[in-house]
Amino acid sequence: MSLSSDLLIRSRRSIFPPSYVSRPIPKETILELLENANYAPTHRLTQPWRFTVFTGDGLARLADFMAENYRATTSPASFSQAKYDVTRDKILKAGAVLAINVELHPDLVPEWEEIAATAAAVQNIWLSAWERGIGGYWSTPGSALEPLAEFLDLPSGQKNIGLFYLGYHDAPAVPARRTPIEDKVVWVEA
Ligand SMILES: Cc1cc2nc3c(=O)[nH]c(=O)nc-3n(C[C@H](O)[C@H](O)[C@H](O)COP(=O)(O)O)c2cc1C
Repeated sequence: MSLSSDLLIRSRRSIFPPSYVSRPIPKETILELLENANYAPTHRLTQPWRFTVFTGDGLARLADFMAENYRATTSPASFSQAKYDVTRDKILKAGAVLAINVELHPDLVPEWEEIAATAAAVQNIWLSAWERGIGGYWSTPGSALEPLAEFLDLPSGQKNIGLFYLGYHDAPAVPARRTPIEDKVVWVEA
């Protein structure tokens, strides 16, 4: 399948684990997505995007960590076994989960530029996956980001900015919910 870039960009949706089907994503396909990530723009060529790729039994390790982190950061009174199970199961349903990490270069560029460049790399992955029939979504589990960095054993100087779930899916096509671009643009023409 080859979509025009307009159609590819506009048809891409966030696809969540309940819609994932149990079809493994070949490693070569994940490598193609990562290769495309590497072509994102980057100020001073710092290329700050870093990824930790969880597949196979690796997904179970991440799932256990996320579920136990939920337990550890939740008071017994508000702990929900259902939420614990969902936290775990949604990772196990994925074909792959990428931890999105950023290597900061404070001597060269500000942190926001590194995060912006990494987000561009993630969009490359997202669109490349979409074109291959693979859905994805960016999850930013607020209370887990710092424990995640520890779990990932990130070197100092790197930070985690979320998880990217990937999976073949059976979600129906849904139109994007967006307010008009006209409301978000100021033209200066004279
Ligand atoms: C930086 C970033 C963080 C996001 N974090 C979450 C999240 O934690 N949970 C979630 O359900 N969706 C998250 N999303 C996905 C958005 O909910 C989704 O992109 C938005 O609703 C628009 O839908 P669409 O991607 O289908 O166009 C995130 C998206 C971005 C770009």
